[in-house]
Amino acid sequence: MKLSPYFGSFANIAAGLDALNVDGLVLFNRFYQPDIDLEKMAVAPNLTLSTPADMRLPLHWIGILYGNIRANLAATSGIYQAHDVIKLVMAGADVTMLCSALMRHGITHIQRIEMDLVAWLEQHQHNSLRELKGRMSQQNCPDPSAFERDQYVRGLSSYTSGCDGRHGDWSK
Ligand SMILES: Cc1cc2nc3c(=O)[nH]c(=O)nc-3n(C[C@H](O)[C@H](O)[C@H](O)COP(=O)(O)O)c2cc1C
Repeated sequence: MKLSPYFGSFANIAAGLDALNVDGLVLFNRFYQPDIDLEKMAVAPNLTLSTPADMRLPLHWIGILYGNIRANLAATSGIYQAHDVIKLVMAGADVTMLCSALMRHGITHIQRIEMDLVAWLEQHQHNSLRELKGRMSQQNCPDPSAFERDQYVRGLSSYTSGCDGRHGDWSK
Protein backbone atom coordinates (compact mmCIF):
# COMPACT_ATOMS: atom_id res chain seq x y z
CA MET A 1 0.00 0.00 0.00
CA LYS A 2 1.47 3.32 -1.10
CA LEU A 3 0.94 5.98 1.54
CA SER A 4 1.10 9.73 1.82
CA PRO A 5 3.07 11.19 4.75
CA TYR A 6 0.23 13.59 5.65
CA PHE A 7 -1.16 11.81 8.70
CA GLY A 8 -1.14 13.30 12.19
CA SER A 9 0.17 10.09 13.68
CA PHE A 10 1.89 8.21 10.92
CA ALA A 11 3.26 5.43 13.15
CA ASN A 12 -0.29 4.56 14.28
CA ILE A 13 -1.52 4.44 10.68
CA ALA A 14 1.34 2.12 9.73
CA ALA A 15 0.73 -0.12 12.75
CA GLY A 16 -3.01 -0.23 11.98
CA LEU A 17 -2.37 -1.31 8.38
CA ASP A 18 0.15 -3.87 9.59
CA ALA A 19 -2.49 -5.31 11.93
CA LEU A 20 -4.75 -5.68 8.88
CA ASN A 21 -2.02 -7.85 7.30
CA VAL A 22 -0.97 -5.43 4.58
CA ASP A 23 2.02 -7.08 2.86
CA GLY A 24 4.07 -3.96 2.37
CA LEU A 25 4.08 -0.20 2.84
CA VAL A 26 5.50 2.12 0.19
CA LEU A 27 6.78 5.35 1.75
CA PHE A 28 5.87 7.87 0.34
CA ASN A 29 3.49 8.83 -2.43
CA ARG A 30 3.89 12.34 -3.87
CA PHE A 31 0.75 14.15 -4.89
CA TYR A 32 0.42 15.77 -8.28
CA GLN A 33 0.44 19.54 -7.60
CA PRO A 34 -0.89 21.75 -10.41
CA ASP A 35 -0.22 25.50 -10.42
CA ILE A 36 -2.35 28.50 -11.51
CA ASP A 37 -1.16 30.56 -14.48
CA LEU A 38 -2.29 34.10 -13.60
CA GLU A 39 -1.81 35.48 -17.13
CA LYS A 40 -3.78 32.74 -18.85
CA MET A 41 -6.18 32.41 -15.88
CA ALA A 42 -5.87 28.65 -16.16
CA VAL A 43 -4.84 25.76 -14.00
CA ALA A 44 -1.47 24.72 -15.35
CA PRO A 45 -0.11 21.19 -15.26
CA ASN A 46 3.16 21.24 -13.38
CA LEU A 47 5.31 18.14 -13.14
CA THR A 48 7.61 18.75 -10.20
CA LEU A 49 10.32 16.16 -9.77
CA SER A 50 11.61 15.36 -6.32
CA THR A 51 15.01 16.45 -5.00
CA PRO A 52 17.51 14.46 -2.89
CA ALA A 53 16.30 16.25 0.25
CA ASP A 54 12.95 14.44 -0.14
CA MET A 55 14.70 11.20 0.76
CA ARG A 56 14.88 12.25 4.42
CA LEU A 57 11.18 11.69 5.01
CA PRO A 58 11.12 7.99 4.08
CA LEU A 59 14.50 7.59 5.79
CA HIS A 60 13.03 8.91 9.03
CA TRP A 61 9.89 6.79 9.01
CA ILE A 62 11.46 3.60 7.72
CA GLY A 63 14.09 3.92 10.44
CA ILE A 64 11.36 4.19 13.05
CA LEU A 65 9.08 1.46 11.67
CA TYR A 66 11.77 -1.16 10.98
CA GLY A 67 11.49 -3.97 13.53
CA ASN A 68 8.18 -2.63 14.85
CA ILE A 69 5.93 -3.84 12.06
CA ARG A 70 5.84 -7.05 10.07
CA ALA A 71 5.04 -5.52 6.64
CA ASN A 72 7.81 -5.03 4.10
CA LEU A 73 9.02 -1.45 3.71
CA ALA A 74 9.63 0.13 0.32
CA ALA A 75 11.30 3.54 0.02
CA THR A 76 10.41 6.07 -2.65
CA SER A 77 11.05 9.85 -2.92
CA GLY A 78 14.28 11.64 -3.69
CA ILE A 79 16.53 8.64 -4.35
CA TYR A 80 19.24 9.85 -6.71
CA GLN A 81 22.42 7.96 -5.97
CA ALA A 82 23.91 4.78 -4.48
CA HIS A 83 24.42 6.48 -1.12
CA ASP A 84 20.67 7.10 -0.90
CA VAL A 85 19.98 3.40 -1.52
CA ILE A 86 22.53 2.37 1.12
CA LYS A 87 21.12 4.77 3.72
CA LEU A 88 17.54 3.64 3.16
CA VAL A 89 18.47 -0.04 3.35
CA MET A 90 20.42 0.68 6.53
CA ALA A 91 17.33 2.40 7.93
CA GLY A 92 15.40 -0.80 7.17
CA ALA A 93 14.03 -0.61 3.62
CA ASP A 94 13.47 -3.91 1.83
CA VAL A 95 13.53 -2.17 -1.52
CA THR A 96 14.20 1.30 -2.92
CA MET A 97 12.35 2.72 -5.92
CA LEU A 98 13.14 5.74 -8.05
CA CYS A 99 11.49 7.77 -10.77
CA SER A 100 12.56 11.45 -10.72
CA ALA A 101 16.28 10.60 -10.98
CA LEU A 102 15.60 8.54 -14.11
CA MET A 103 13.46 11.27 -15.64
CA ARG A 104 16.19 13.80 -14.93
CA HIS A 105 19.24 11.74 -15.92
CA GLY A 106 17.83 9.06 -18.24
CA ILE A 107 17.32 5.34 -17.76
CA THR A 108 21.07 4.56 -17.85
CA HIS A 109 21.41 6.32 -14.49
CA ILE A 110 20.26 3.05 -12.93
CA GLN A 111 23.49 1.39 -14.12
CA ARG A 112 25.55 4.16 -12.54
CA ILE A 113 23.76 3.60 -9.23
CA GLU A 114 24.34 -0.15 -9.46
CA MET A 115 28.06 0.30 -10.23
CA ASP A 116 28.48 2.77 -7.37
CA LEU A 117 26.63 0.41 -5.03
CA VAL A 118 28.87 -2.53 -5.89
CA ALA A 119 31.97 -0.31 -5.51
CA TRP A 120 30.81 0.98 -2.11
CA LEU A 121 30.09 -2.53 -0.83
CA GLU A 122 33.52 -3.75 -1.95
CA GLN A 123 35.30 -0.72 -0.53
CA HIS A 124 33.59 -1.22 2.84
CA GLN A 125 34.04 -5.00 2.75
CA HIS A 126 30.38 -5.99 2.73
CA ASN A 127 29.21 -9.01 0.76
CA SER A 128 25.68 -7.81 0.17
CA LEU A 129 23.17 -5.07 0.90
CA ARG A 130 21.22 -7.61 2.92
CA GLU A 131 23.79 -7.63 5.70
CA LEU A 132 23.34 -3.87 6.12
CA LYS A 133 19.55 -3.98 6.37
CA GLY A 134 18.22 -2.19 9.44
CA ARG A 135 21.68 -1.57 10.87
CA MET A 136 20.92 2.13 11.31
CA SER A 137 17.24 1.75 12.16
CA GLN A 138 16.12 3.38 15.36
CA GLN A 139 16.36 0.06 17.18
CA ASN A 140 19.92 -0.64 16.07
CA CYS A 141 21.70 2.67 15.56
CA PRO A 142 24.19 3.86 18.17
CA ASP A 143 21.98 6.83 19.14
CA PRO A 144 18.25 5.90 18.89
CA SER A 145 17.25 9.40 20.01
CA ALA A 146 18.69 10.70 16.71
CA PHE A 147 15.35 9.75 15.13
CA GLU A 148 13.32 11.75 17.63
CA ARG A 149 12.05 15.26 18.05
CA ASP A 150 14.52 16.54 20.63
CA GLN A 151 17.21 16.13 17.96
CA TYR A 152 15.07 18.25 15.67
CA VAL A 153 14.94 20.95 18.31
CA ARG A 154 18.72 20.71 18.73
CA GLY A 155 19.09 20.88 14.95
CA LEU A 156 17.03 24.07 14.86
CA SER A 157 19.19 25.77 17.45
CA SER A 158 22.40 24.81 15.62
CA TYR A 159 21.05 25.79 12.15
CA THR A 160 23.14 28.30 10.23
CA SER A 161 22.02 30.17 7.13
CA GLY A 162 22.92 28.42 3.86
CA CYS A 163 22.87 24.94 5.41
CA ASP A 164 19.86 23.31 3.74
CA GLY A 165 20.86 19.69 4.22
CA ARG A 166 21.19 18.90 0.51
CA HIS A 167 24.15 16.89 -0.64
CA GLY A 168 26.14 16.78 -3.84
CA ASP A 169 25.35 18.36 -7.16
CA TRP A 170 22.37 16.21 -8.16
CA SER A 171 20.98 18.48 -10.87
CA LYS A 172 23.74 17.74 -13.44
C1 LIG B 1 5.91 11.31 -14.19
C2 LIG B 1 5.55 10.53 -12.96
C3 LIG B 1 4.52 9.61 -13.01
C4 LIG B 1 4.15 8.89 -11.88
N1 LIG B 1 3.12 8.00 -11.95
C5 LIG B 1 2.79 7.28 -10.84
C6 LIG B 1 1.71 6.35 -10.87
O1 LIG B 1 1.05 6.17 -11.89
N2 LIG B 1 1.43 5.66 -9.75
C7 LIG B 1 2.15 5.83 -8.60
O2 LIG B 1 1.86 5.18 -7.58
N3 LIG B 1 3.16 6.71 -8.54
C8 LIG B 1 3.49 7.44 -9.62
N4 LIG B 1 4.50 8.34 -9.54
C9 LIG B 1 5.22 8.53 -8.28
C10 LIG B 1 6.50 7.72 -8.28
O3 LIG B 1 6.23 6.34 -8.39
C11 LIG B 1 7.29 7.95 -6.99
O4 LIG B 1 6.62 7.38 -5.88
C12 LIG B 1 7.53 9.41 -6.71
O5 LIG B 1 7.81 10.13 -7.90
C13 LIG B 1 8.68 9.58 -5.72
O6 LIG B 1 9.85 8.98 -6.20
P1 LIG B 1 10.98 9.83 -6.94
O7 LIG B 1 11.45 10.85 -5.99
O8 LIG B 1 12.02 8.83 -7.29
O9 LIG B 1 10.35 10.43 -8.15
C14 LIG B 1 4.87 9.08 -10.66
C15 LIG B 1 5.92 10.01 -10.64
C16 LIG B 1 6.26 10.74 -11.75
C17 LIG B 1 7.39 11.74 -11.65
